[in-house]
Amino acid sequence: MVAEATQQELEAGRGYEKLFVPALFASWPRHVLDGAAVQGRAHVLDIACGSGVLARAAFERCGQTARVVGLDPAPGMIAAAKEVEPHIQWVVGIAENLPFDDGTFDHVISQFGIMFFQDRPKAVSEMYRVTKPGGKLAVAVWHSVDDNPAYKDIASVLEQYVSPDAADTVRIPFCLDDPLKVTQLFSQAGFDEVAFETKREKAEFPNTMTMVEVELRGWLPLFGIHLSEGKISEVLTKSDAVLAKYATSSGAAVFPTTAYVITANKPE
Ligand SMILES: C[S@@+](CC[C@H](N)C(=O)[O-])C[C@H]1O[C@@H](n2cnc3c(N)ncnc32)[C@H](O)[C@@H]1O
Repeated sequence: MVAEATQQELEAGRGYEKLFVPALFASWPRHVLDGAAVQGRAHVLDIACGSGVLARAAFERCGQTARVVGLDPAPGMIAAAKEVEPHIQWVVGIAENLPFDDGTFDHVISQFGIMFFQDRPKAVSEMYRVTKPGGKLAVAVWHSVDDNPAYKDIASVLEQYVSPDAADTVRIPFCLDDPLKVTQLFSQAGFDEVAFETKREKAEFPNTMTMVEVELRGWLPLFGIHLSEGKISEVLTKSDAVLAKYATSSGAAVFPTTAYVITANKPE
C-alpha cells in the first residue's frame, strides 16, 4: 500500500528527512546493516523506517539488487521516503501487525523506532514471524539520555522555559536504557544468539539553534505542544548559552551520540 498523506503530513516527513536525518540518523545504518549482515540479493524489511534512511542504505549496500521494504505508520514519512527512493516498496503499517507472510525476509532491521512501539513484545514476535528461518535481525536503540548529553541539556532548557511535559517528550527516545532487559524480549520471542553492542557516533547540526528549533517545531507538535513564535524565539535565545559547548569554530553544532545494536538470528 502506498501512503495517502495530507500536504501537512508530507511537509513534516520532508522536514524530518531534511533536518533530522543528515544531522542525527544517517550515521547509524552502517552499524545496523553490519549487525544483520545485509548483503546480496536479499529480501530486507526496515521497520519504523521513517523517511527511509536505513532502507535506502540497505538498497545501496546490496548494489540495488535487494528487494527492500520500508514500513512506518506515518503516511507523511512514507510519502517523503517514496519521493527520495521510488525503487523501494514503502508500506504504511505498524510493527505490532506486520502485513507480511511468515518467513518472508532474510533480514529484519530497524533503527530508533522500538521505543515508540505501543506493544513491544507483540512487535518483536511479529519480527520473528516474518523473518525466514536462518534469517538475521538488527535493531538500534538509543542508550540513556545521560549517555546522550546534548539531549539531557535540551530537556533541561525545555524544563525551565517551556514545561516538564515538553522536557519529557525529548527524553522519550532514550527510555529503553536497559539493553539486557530489551534483549530478553528477543530471546523470549524465539530468536537465538541474541546479543548487543554499544556504538558511538557524532551528530552534526548546522548550528546550536537548529538543534533546539527542530525539537520545538518538529517534535513537540507531535505531542500536541504548540509554541508561539515569541516563545520559540525566547527558548532559542535561552538555549544558546547552555548549548554553546557543542559549537565548533565553523559554527556547526557537533555532539556525541550513543546507542546499542541488538543482533539475533532466527533458528533454521
Ligand atoms: C525516530 S523515528 C526513526 C525513523 C528511521 N528509522 C530513522 O532512522 O530515521 C521513529 C519512527 O518510528 C515510527 N513508529 C512509531 N510507532 C511505530 C509502530 N508502532 N510501528 C512502527 N513504527 C512506528 C514513527 O512513525 C517514526 O517514523
